[in-house]
Amino acid sequence: GVDISALLKQTGHVTLDPGYVNTGACTSAITYIDGDAGILRYRGYPIAELAEKSNFLEVSYLLIYGELPTQAQYDEFAEKIRRHTLLDEDLKRFFDGFPRDAHPMPVLSSAVSALSTFYQDNLDPADAESVEISTVRLLAKLPTIAAYAYKKTVGQPFLYPDNSLGYIENFLRMTFGLPAEPYEVDPAVAEALDLLFILHADHEQNCSTSTVRLVGSSQANLFASISSGIHALSGPRHGGANSAVLSMLEQIVAEGGDVANFVERVKSREKGVRLMGFGHRVYKNYDPRAAIVKKTADDVLDRLGKSDQLLDIAKQLEEVALNDDYFVQRKLYPNVDFYTGLIYRAMGFPTQMFTVLFALGRLPGWIAQWREMIVDPANKIGRPRQVYTGERERSFVGMEQR
Ligand code: ACO
Repeated sequence: GVDISALLKQTGHVTLDPGYVNTGACTSAITYIDGDAGILRYRGYPIAELAEKSNFLEVSYLLIYGELPTQAQYDEFAEKIRRHTLLDEDLKRFFDGFPRDAHPMPVLSSAVSALSTFYQDNLDPADAESVEISTVRLLAKLPTIAAYAYKKTVGQPFLYPDNSLGYIENFLRMTFGLPAEPYEVDPAVAEALDLLFILHADHEQNCSTSTVRLVGSSQANLFASISSGIHALSGPRHGGANSAVLSMLEQIVAEGGDVANFVERVKSREKGVRLMGFGHRVYKNYDPRAAIVKKTADDVLDRLGKSDQLLDIAKQLEEVALNDDYFVQRKLYPNVDFYTGLIYRAMGFPTQMFTVLFALGRLPGWIAQWREMIVDPANKIGRPRQVYTGERERSFVGMEQR
């Protein structure tokens, strides 16, 4: 019953755009998306080409510094990251304080927040050297933190990083290895995880990245900003969708595998029932990342010699949805998260780690966006306006008269 246009007139020059559907908050030279054409490019390079020819650390360099590295630049970058993978022993004790069944996302965010207390001399956003070392520390330590968050839930000892291994291999060993047993990293798994991290590495002004920028716009440090971004990512409408997809597929199987019936429930707008992993604010066409992930899901399951009933259900769901008017009219296509969970599951990750994997992949994008903002002369503190809809003016009423 509120007359918004009348209120807008009263408020003057405020634009009301809930969810920022049509409001640009910054200029950026990092990621280009054409949602209608299904195009995604990092620094001008098409995502499919990077997925095929590059690796995650190289893509991280590209996003953060703007250009592909030379061999010497790449080696130096990788070496710096390798030398910072350890966590301070005091930080390690943080993990003891969480309950055994703690969800790894808030653990991840808390530990990143705590990093700022260990590196208090390097927090000034205006100091380029501090920003540089914080960048390296975050990229190096997040996989260690993520692996420890997992180890905590399974009650296994933490493994120190093995710096003879590559970035992805090191993370896999810290996650799945045991101290007394040699751990052979499966190259098929490492390659697929590297690819998935590339696909997640940036996606311009999505909810978590906008959060990182907004928090950073107050000149809060990089660790504080990224920690906030991790929380933003955790919601089921954002990064949390990858685990929500798995729960949805499991529920369909538990209820007898009736895909058509589930789609009907989505269409009838039963409360809380959405087709998870479908739809996107910007893509009104097939998400180019989803096409690559779908193929990877087939390859990985084949190479690991696993078949997954849930993959069949997912494909059936996609088939039904893509041919159904409800989804066609609303331009709802599979997004990056529709098939990722199935791959993570085949790799041996429990469902609650899926969004943590998203965070590991998105980290270079968050860092690149924060750094771009910090040096942007047009950068101001983020401070949206509002359209006030409450009582105009009232006189205070004493408690005895209420
Ligand atoms: N299932 C069923 N209907 C949907 C879905 C879905 N997944 N997504 C959107 N719709 C419908 C809405 O009900 C709405 O219909 P209406 O116009 O008749 O009311 C219409 O499509 C538009 O939806 P909005 O919610 O307005 O679209 P918005 O751009 O705000 O939301 C979002 C995008 C959040 C991604 C949404 O599609 C969604 O909730 N998807 C499921 C969760 C998901 O997969 N999230 C991952 C996003 S990608 C990422 O973070 C990696």
